Amino acid sequence: MKALVLSGGSGLRLRPFSHSMPKQLLPIANKPVIDHVLENIRDIGITDIGVVVGGQAPEIITALGDGSRWGTRLTYLHQKKPLGLAHCLLQAREFLGDDDFVVYLGDNMLLDGISDLASDFSADRPAAHVVLHKVSDPTTFGVAELGPDGEVSRLVEKPSYPRSNLALIGVYFFTPAIHEAVRAIGPSPRGELEITDAVQWLLDRGIRVTATEYTGYWKDVGRVEDVLECNRRVLDGLSPAVAGEVDDMSVIRGPVVIEPGARITRSVIEGPVIVGASAVLTDSHVGPHVSIGRGCILRDARLDGSMALDGAVITGVRGLHHSLIGRSARVGPSGGVTQQHRLVVGDHCQVEVAV
Ligand code: DAU
Repeated sequence: MKALVLSGGSGLRLRPFSHSMPKQLLPIANKPVIDHVLENIRDIGITDIGVVVGGQAPEIITALGDGSRWGTRLTYLHQKKPLGLAHCLLQAREFLGDDDFVVYLGDNMLLDGISDLASDFSADRPAAHVVLHKVSDPTTFGVAELGPDGEVSRLVEKPSYPRSNLALIGVYFFTPAIHEAVRAIGPSPRGELEITDAVQWLLDRGIRVTATEYTGYWKDVGRVEDVLECNRRVLDGLSPAVAGEVDDMSVIRGPVVIEPGARITRSVIEGPVIVGASAVLTDSHVGPHVSIGRGCILRDARLDGSMALDGAVITGVRGLHHSLIGRSARVGPSGGVTQQHRLVVGDHCQVEVAV
C-alpha cells in the first residue's frame, strides 16, 4: 500500500501565516502538522509516500527531505496550480501504479492515528473507504449521507443545506478503481476537481463505498483558531521532559517540556508548556497551554493559550492570550513615548488591543 499526502493548495484562510510558510509546516506543539501526518502513515507500515507540493514546494522539501527520518521514502509530485484534491490523484497516477493507497490531507490532524481506519479498509477492500466525524457546522466540509446499512449513499462538497452532520475527514482509502472516477469527473462550481465528486461517481455506478466514524480528536488546521485549539489539545498529552537549564528562582508546574539549550531564569512555567531548543525566558510567566518555538526570547512577558513560532521575541508585554506570534516577529513596548502604539503589521494580520 502507498500513501499520497496533499501539501499544495493556497491556505488563504490561514493568512498572514500562509504568505510566508505552507500551512502544513505550522508547528503544533513545536512539530509541523505534516510531521504528525507522516508519523501516522509510518505507524500503519507504509513506507512509499508521494507528497503533492505546489507554489511553496521548496519549504516543504527542505523540511521533509527524503523522508528517511521516519523510515519512509518520499517522492515529490509537483502540482502547478491548486486545481483540486482529485487533480492531485491525476498528477500522482504514475507514482500510485496499481497499488491500494491512502490519501491524507497535509493539514489534517488526527490525534488517535489511522490504524483502526486502515484495518477497516483492508478487511474487505471496498473501492473507497472514507472517514467521518460529527461536526456542528458541516457547511465548510464534504458531507456524507449514510444508507440504512451504514454504507455511504451520497457525498456533497460544502453543501449550503447539509443533509447530515457527518463531515468528511481528510483521510481516504482507495483501490485503483478510483482512477477511472477522477478521469471521468469535471470541475465543481469552485473550479476544482473534487475528491468528493470522484467518490460520488463510484456511488452513482453502484460501486461500494464504506465509512468509519472517527470519534477521536480531529482538526483541519485551516484557520488560526483551529491551529490554537489543536495546539492546546496536543499539549494536553505532553510527557514532561526538562533538558534545558532552569535556575533556582524559577518554578515549573504541570507537564512541561524544555528542550536542550533552552534557559529559564526567574520565571514561572505552568504546564502544559513546551519550550523549544535555545529559547531564553527571563522574568516571565508562561502557560498554561503555550508553545514557544526554537530560539525565542521572552523577557518580562506573560502569556497563556498561545504560540510563539521560532525566533519570536516578546518583551515587556503581559496578558497575551490566545495569540499566535509568527517566526522572528517582535512584540514589545514602544520606545519612550507612553500612551502611543507603534505597529508594523504585515498583510492580513490581526491585532486586538486591550482598551
Ligand atoms: O479537511 C477536510 C476537508 O478537506 C473535507 O471535508 C473536504 O471534503 C475536502 O474537500 C477538503 O476541504 P478543504 O477546502 O479544507 O481543502 P483544502 O483546500 O484546505 O485542501 C486540503 C489539503 O490539500 C491541503 O493540505 C492543501 C492540499 N491541496 C489542496 C488543493 C485544492 C493540494 O495539495 N492541492 C490542491 O489542488
